[in-house]
Amino acid sequence: MSNPKTMILGTGHAVPDKILSNADLEKMVDTSGRWIQERTGILERRVVEPGTPLSELAVLAGRRALEDAGVDPADVDLIIVGTVTGDMKFPATACFVQAALGASNAAAFDVSAACSGFIYGLQIADALMQNASYRRALVIGGDILTSMVDWEDRDTCILFGDGAGAAVLGPAKEGRGILSTSLRSDGSLAHLLYNPGCGSLNPPTEENVRKKIHTIRMEGREVFRHAVKNMTEILRQVLRQSDLEITDLDMLIPHQANLRIIEAVSKKFGLGSDKVYINVERFGNTSAASIPIALDEASKSGRLGAGDHVGVVAFGAGFAWAAGIIRL
Ligand code: ACO
Repeated sequence: MSNPKTMILGTGHAVPDKILSNADLEKMVDTSGRWIQERTGILERRVVEPGTPLSELAVLAGRRALEDAGVDPADVDLIIVGTVTGDMKFPATACFVQAALGASNAAAFDVSAACSGFIYGLQIADALMQNASYRRALVIGGDILTSMVDWEDRDTCILFGDGAGAAVLGPAKEGRGILSTSLRSDGSLAHLLYNPGCGSLNPPTEENVRKKIHTIRMEGREVFRHAVKNMTEILRQVLRQSDLEITDLDMLIPHQANLRIIEAVSKKFGLGSDKVYINVERFGNTSAASIPIALDEASKSGRLGAGDHVGVVAFGAGFAWAAGIIRL
């Protein structure tokens, strides 16, 4: 294992104030709070007012992470936003974040890897900081999936919430930092979880919008199956790459899609609930935001501290999945 070159200097997150409970959803679609809780573990989620841009949450999360890290926005030279629900098709949401934060010396771009977007961003930032002259990076994972949900489709609309989380990266010290990461994809299974609308294939014509082509399509059972298998495999891989055993981890932070997925992966590693961070009951699936929100909550609440080993692992549309081992 080589010495880490970059470490997390600070974290932050932002979620909307508005809560959408399972009881609220019962009034909107043919579902029951009991079904949602039993099948997903979700009790409530945070949702934006329609028309709220992702950059609003991303800027808040980013600013909080910079304050936590004690880093001046002018000293940030890289901003990466993992998202599939950016403010616009172009420019990148990272550019709006850059402008709002006054990080005028940064290169800014987005990464599209759905729920794995934050870990994808983390590895890209880590690699760029090792090979180029970047010293401070702001990596944000954020999504407003409620902007592309079909609120009449009970298979999907109960799952998602909105939010953003961020981490500031800088040069590593004392053996702390990103020990290993791995990114994987399988585009042959893209049809199991996708949003067909509003790209070049299906532009937003009146007819396409009427057909709800801009909403999420998902084969939930298949996604579930692939998520458990691939998250397990890739977590084993990054542990091997880091020369660590699962028992060396102080905490596992899995993507918060469904409590049953988290429990199935934890069980494969024999991890008790004290070693796994779970907040899916409060936020639902916030896509790229789920891991950095959890990381920030765990750090700020004192469950994680300097020197602790954390595993992160995610799976989502693409399929794209990713994992990492970080010594905080
Ligand atoms: N309320 C009540 N009943 C429902 C609901 C609902 N909201 N949704 C589905 N059902 C019904 C189904 O119609 C089905 O009824 P039937 O047996 O009469 O046909 C029954 O419940 C069971 O349906 P399943 O789809 O088999 O339920 P499952 O246990 O698989 O749970 C779920 C569904 C929660 C979607 C699960 O499969 C899951 O979490 N999958 C992974 C989703 C995921 O991680 N997505 C990530 C996407 S995010 C991204 O990458 C952008």
